[in-house]
Amino acid sequence: MDKDNNKSGRIDIEDLSWEYLDGDGDFRSKEVKKLRDEADIIVTNPPFSLFREFVDWIFEGKKDFIILGNENNETDKDIFKLIRESKMWLGKSNGEMAFRVPKTSENRETRFWVDETGQKWRSFGNMCWFTNIDLGRRHQPLRLMNMEDNLKFNKPLIKTLKEKYNVDSYPEFDNYSVIEVPRYDAIPNDYAKPMAVPITFLKYHDPYQFKILNANDFRKSDEIPKKAHGLIKDKESTINGKATYVRVVIINRSEEDGSKAKD
Ligand SMILES: C[S@@+](CC[C@H](N)C(=O)[O-])C[C@H]1O[C@@H](n2cnc3c(N)ncnc32)[C@H](O)[C@@H]1O
Repeated sequence: MDKDNNKSGRIDIEDLSWEYLDGDGDFRSKEVKKLRDEADIIVTNPPFSLFREFVDWIFEGKKDFIILGNENNETDKDIFKLIRESKMWLGKSNGEMAFRVPKTSENRETRFWVDETGQKWRSFGNMCWFTNIDLGRRHQPLRLMNMEDNLKFNKPLIKTLKEKYNVDSYPEFDNYSVIEVPRYDAIPNDYAKPMAVPITFLKYHDPYQFKILNANDFRKSDEIPKKAHGLIKDKESTINGKATYVRVVIINRSEEDGSKAKD
């Protein structure tokens, strides 16, 4: 079928044709589910309050997707489970993002501006793309040092270990047989056991380099409650009695396989 509706010689946005929906466009409606089932790929900025439900809806339709979300969504138990199982991951360009907003949207004190054309904008510092489509970043291993070199040359790591935990080596968690790696760039590439890293690691995760594990499998005793999300989090996340931020447990795949990690 010829899609060059305006006969301009090329198919572009001017050739778009559309029909109105019968219903209100709720993604959970029969009408929109039918459209989902016809689609090859879903690309959108879904309602954040229904993020988890929207992800379920995509998986129910078995579709490829690229959707925007909030970094906080990563630690949601169902979303993190999908990430851990490599069924979805972060896309590129995460963090700071600006969005055009309608003229009708309220002016704000911060993270809001109007450009020279009168267009209103809002920005957010914690946005991220979630997708199940492969991308180059997932095939780019982090370049890391071994444990000895990290403890000798990684100044920010040495400083954090000293200031936060008053130690000069990677400490172990009180409740998990896992070492604390307070910065993703301080992951020792020669360590063969589970390590806990900040959630920012997910932005750099190459699944061929590290495997994401379920923290519940490394509890030191059955008295430590199992967490539905499988992260190290909340009051169980202590080191010498002091709680850390949320942590993802990972293991080096090449060390795990018994062969030495390469640079
Ligand atoms: C984060 S905004 C993104 C807006 C739009 N996609 C864009 O890029 O300009 C989420 C949008 O989802 C709409 N929404 C809220 N609940 C919905 C639902 N149950 N089904 C479909 N859309 C919904 C909101 O009205 C809002 O416009």
